[in-house]
This record gives sequence, structure tokens and C-alpha cells, in this order.
Amino acid sequence: MKHNIVVAIDGTSASGKSTNSKLVARGLGFVYVDTGAMYRTLAWYCLQKGVDVSAAKAVGAACRKWKTQLACVEVDGLRCARLLVEGYFPEKEIRTPETAAAVPHVAAVPKVRDWMKKTQRDCIQFGHLVMEGRDIGTNVFPETDYKFYLDATLAERSARRAADGVNENLAARDRRDSERAAAPLMIALGARVINNSNLTSAETSKLLLDDLRARLPAGSFLQ
Ligand code: DC
Repeated sequence: MKHNIVVAIDGTSASGKSTNSKLVARGLGFVYVDTGAMYRTLAWYCLQKGVDVSAAKAVGAACRKWKTQLACVEVDGLRCARLLVEGYFPEKEIRTPETAAAVPHVAAVPKVRDWMKKTQRDCIQFGHLVMEGRDIGTNVFPETDYKFYLDATLAERSARRAADGVNENLAARDRRDSERAAAPLMIALGARVINNSNLTSAETSKLLLDDLRARLPAGSFLQ
């Protein structure tokens, strides 16, 4: 278990992390971990329980108390690690505008980040991982040799969000993710930076997979 491999994929919002992380996990036969979903789950939980998400102490207390389990489930042939709350994965609820608005507050609380780091590291029990987030290469698995940072121009990322029917101020989101004191979004030392403004996800994931297949230990991944 100690020798399981972690591919860390960090980057800005709408930089293609989820799509490409899933393609890479499928391509290699690794377990996919969406750490943003974990922060979103805590934000949803706080909203459910009437916890004021702008009150760091209250959010920290809720995170200490909530009853969660990690599970590894197969979705359309892709193994995914999930954080369940009292046995439930709030798949739809974590994507609502209300949860999206609450999550940056929750993600800025140092006690929450400590808890998330420990929980995300525990995912290694499920096998080799492709883990996407904002601080995976800098903070959660800084020791991994397989770090990537995805980015695209603000105009391109805003267009992608709009195409998904989401009207979001990404410049403000970038600022909040990069300027928070606890584990801000940064390019990890040794990360390979891919700007995919002019690339399709097939092209981006091919870059990632070609690089990984050339460097990963033989026999650790699907050919
Ligand atoms: O990737 P996403 O949009 O689902 O992330 C939701 C929020 O959680 C976003 O505000 C950034 C934050 N986040 C974080 O701070 N650290 C992570 N490892 C993953 C997400």
C-alpha cells in the first residue's frame, strides 16, 4: 500500500482537470479522486445543518464532528474514491449554485484543510491514484514525482463554463483560490505545466498519458 503511486493534477477552475484526470485514470487503470467534491460535500453538509459557512470556527467544529467514510466505487468502469456522509454521497447536491458559493469559505479554513489532507492521503488504500485538486502536488502528496498543473486563458476557461451553462466569475474564484493563506493554489515544484487553451481534452490527456507512460514503473499501469 505504501508503494501505491499518486498522479497529482492541480490547476485553475475550468482548466480541464476533471475531464483529463478521468481520462488519465481510465487510461492507466488508476483510481480517480476528485478532492473538490470532498470540499463541496462539507459545504453542502454545513448548509444542511445550518452552519454559517463564513464562521471558520463553526465550520471547523462541523468538520470535526461529521460522520464520514471513504469508499471506492466503480462508475462506468472507472474506479472512484468517494467521501460518504452517513453512508450517502450527495452527488447532485454538491453541484448546486448554493454549494458552489459556500465552498470557497469552507476550503479556506485551516482545520478543514488539515482534515481533508489526512482523508485524501487515506485514499492511497484503494490503489494507484489520479488525484485532482488545487494543492495535491504542493500539500497533499508533495512527495510524488508525477505532478501536473493545468491552465488555460481566463477567456477560454470562462467560455468553457458558459458552454456548460454556468455563469461564474472565474477571475474572482482564481483570486480566492490563490490568495487564501491555507494551502493556496500554486504550481508545485517539479510540476509539468500544460496550458490547454488551444487543445482538446483528447490532446491534453494524450500529453499527460504519454509523459506518464514514459516515466511510471513498468507493470504499474495499463498499456
Ligand atoms: O474543483 P472544484 O470546483 O470542485 O473545487 C471546489 C472548491 O474547492 C474550489 O473553491 C476550490 C476548492 N478546492 C481546494 O481548495 N483544494 C482542493 N484540493 C480542491 C478544491
